[in-house]
Amino acid sequence: MGKQEHYVWWQKGIIYQVYPRSFQDSNGDGVGDLPGILSRLDYLEWLGVDAIWISPIYQSPMADFGYDISDYCSIHPLFGTLDDFDRLLTEVHKRGMKLILDLVPNHTSNQHPWFLESRSSRDNPKRDWYIWRDAGPNGTVPNNWLSVFGGTAWEWDEATQQYYYHAFLKEQPDLNWRNPDLQKAMFDTMRWWLDKGVDGFRVDVMWHMIKDEGFRDNPVNPDYQPHRATYEKLIPIHSTDQPEVHDIVHKMRAVMDEYDDRVMIGEIYLPVERLVMYYGKDNRGTHLPFNFQLLTIPWQSGRIYSVIEEYESALPSGGWPNWVLANHDQPRIISRIGPYQAKIAAMLLLTLRGTPTIYYGEEIAMRDVAIPPNEIRDPQGLNMPGLNLSRDPSRTPMQWDDSEYAGFSKVKPWLRVPYSYPRINVKVEQLHALSMLSFYKTLIDLRRKEPALNIGDYRSVYSDKQIIAYLRQSGDSRFLVVLNLTHRPCYFRPGNYPFEGTIELSTEPERIGLPAKDDLTISGDEGLIVRLKL
Ligand code: NOJ
Repeated sequence: MGKQEHYVWWQKGIIYQVYPRSFQDSNGDGVGDLPGILSRLDYLEWLGVDAIWISPIYQSPMADFGYDISDYCSIHPLFGTLDDFDRLLTEVHKRGMKLILDLVPNHTSNQHPWFLESRSSRDNPKRDWYIWRDAGPNGTVPNNWLSVFGGTAWEWDEATQQYYYHAFLKEQPDLNWRNPDLQKAMFDTMRWWLDKGVDGFRVDVMWHMIKDEGFRDNPVNPDYQPHRATYEKLIPIHSTDQPEVHDIVHKMRAVMDEYDDRVMIGEIYLPVERLVMYYGKDNRGTHLPFNFQLLTIPWQSGRIYSVIEEYESALPSGGWPNWVLANHDQPRIISRIGPYQAKIAAMLLLTLRGTPTIYYGEEIAMRDVAIPPNEIRDPQGLNMPGLNLSRDPSRTPMQWDDSEYAGFSKVKPWLRVPYSYPRINVKVEQLHALSMLSFYKTLIDLRRKEPALNIGDYRSVYSDKQIIAYLRQSGDSRFLVVLNLTHRPCYFRPGNYPFEGTIELSTEPERIGLPAKDDLTISGDEGLIVRLKL
């Protein structure tokens, strides 16, 4: 058995995130849907991704665009039917790909039957499935905890004279994961989808799932600045990342392990030393705690180099790394670092050790789209106006071609497409050898083909104010990756690292195939992959 066979699909492969409202509309309502995704599977297969993660597609009042679920086991009619889902799953599998669903266990919609029961009376059997607390003295909120989407995290219920806790919108009450019946109900939900054959879950806000049993106040954040979200006024040490969460994650993992070959990915925004705890004792926690460092740190060579080093050395033995540049809650990478560095980011994502997740549209260099205030749809943007916190700009329709609405829909889409879509789209970029899409395709092909790049070892080689360089190696095959993180040209000559090989890939395609030995001139915004001689 070759070395590659020891690795499972989610280690070797590439994940692609689809935001379903914005991928492809098939029925002319301006919102993407499951048959739309189905119609674009050939594209995803061509691109060479291994797994598709779809953000929530379940029944929902859509207060938070599907992250407020009112029935975990049915599909919202906007997206289609369960039959559409089954067809999609079959077709994904037929192409040798995997399908990952979003699991939102921290909260439901306030329209979920569980919550309707829970709020119906204090002695309802499901009362304890949510987090209910008495008012403080003079009717005040039970503690100072804040909602991520602005304001207090407590909502008063007139009928039963208690507050309930919601880390996000008041329409998203938090579930009480200390309750064993709730745990069982959610594990059964997982099994329902796993029995259908889904290949895994991306678990929403995993680090929020258990709160301090004593409901202590969170401390004030002395570094808070008024342009930031109001949630950041406090440090959420009592409302998130509690020690008991690891038991829950462990139990969820045990459910995954009842099935072959499934993956559990955790959405977790924490510093690296806390993040890696979610691999769990003996790696019995989440397979992949999402590593969001590249979307939070400044785009500087020194920072990126040390983040990679710290992450690599913080990983528990046997813990598999992963990397992400953006998602539906964050600005697109190109809007953070600018167009000149976008190919460097792609090279980084696809040559680092660990599973890469591509956010739809990243591969064609989609940028955040300017949305006028009267078109804002995101509750985070609407609740905290003036802070530019709306997530709509990075959730706009996929740009497929130069026809009206970018080939996404026949009618005006739920969010606008940018003026630039006639030149930034899949169809045009497939025809141009130097487009972002062609670059992604080449990188993906190389990563798939070369064990050194998909499962190989990582070794850092060099960094300075402009460059980072590292080695990927598996067996006899070795690649040196050299990335210039600035716009200025520079010279690469790591004294203690003589090398010899051929340029396999460069952002300057004229250099491909040229020999490279011991040093390299590097243009501004250039990245190179050198195939080293044995
Ligand atoms: C994280 C999701 O990614 C985000 O879109 C959502 O608003 C919150 N969780 C609440 O579910």
